[in-house]
Amino acid sequence: MNTKEHIIKAAREFVYAELGGDSSGHDWWHVHRVTEMAKTIARKENVNVFVCELAALLHDVADEKLNQDEETGVNKVKTWMDDHEVDEVSAAHILEIITTMSFKGGTQKKEMSTLEGKIVQDADRLDAIGAIGISRVMCYAGFKGRPIHDPDMKPRENLTLEEYRSGKDTAIMHFYEKLLKLKSTMNTHTAKELAVGRHQFLETYLEQFYAEWDAKK
Ligand code: ADP
Ligand code: NI
Repeated sequence: MNTKEHIIKAAREFVYAELGGDSSGHDWWHVHRVTEMAKTIARKENVNVFVCELAALLHDVADEKLNQDEETGVNKVKTWMDDHEVDEVSAAHILEIITTMSFKGGTQKKEMSTLEGKIVQDADRLDAIGAIGISRVMCYAGFKGRPIHDPDMKPRENLTLEEYRSGKDTAIMHFYEKLLKLKSTMNTHTAKELAVGRHQFLETYLEQFYAEWDAKK
């Protein structure tokens, strides 16, 4: 029987091997930050910290951007948990969290049903705002070959998932399409509080950005 400590250690090694070299914003350090944040929030709530930590560690392994399709990614996580003797109840809970989290962007939205899931979702969303969030948007836009900003391009609203993933986008447009909306989607009190400062940082950044763009500062 694997202890929880062993499972977490093995999961870190597995995820590092899977995502260590990614440069699309799903890198190992993103997972590390999300895991630390999920643990921080989890300790303040009456929840299963092991489920939060393992779900956070595994949350991006199944991402469809890194796999043939979502099902292949989810099966990879399922097989890994079977091989490492994660108990059935925790494994089912973690799979539920990961599949719910992978419904993102576009119009598809699925409500997270457990507090453990809400915590991991909050931690992932917090990593998309603030100074880190800005760094990730710029990296992602570069990875996709998209410009930083184009004053003639206006943010696109109410997108389908395909439109959301399509090419016509700039890093700055993504602030309006996603980043600035995240503050109001936080589930837990702790994440709501942390989101306020990170959101304010986005606003300040944009203000400075446009001033510099217009040669005013
Ligand atoms: P996550 O898996 O962290 O929930 P995504 O897979 O949607 O989020 O995106 C990974 C990172 O890339 C995030 O920081 C996100 O803001 C950024 N990103 C996603 N789509 C775009 C885009 N069209 N332009 C710029 N950045 C993007
Ligand atoms: Ni993520």
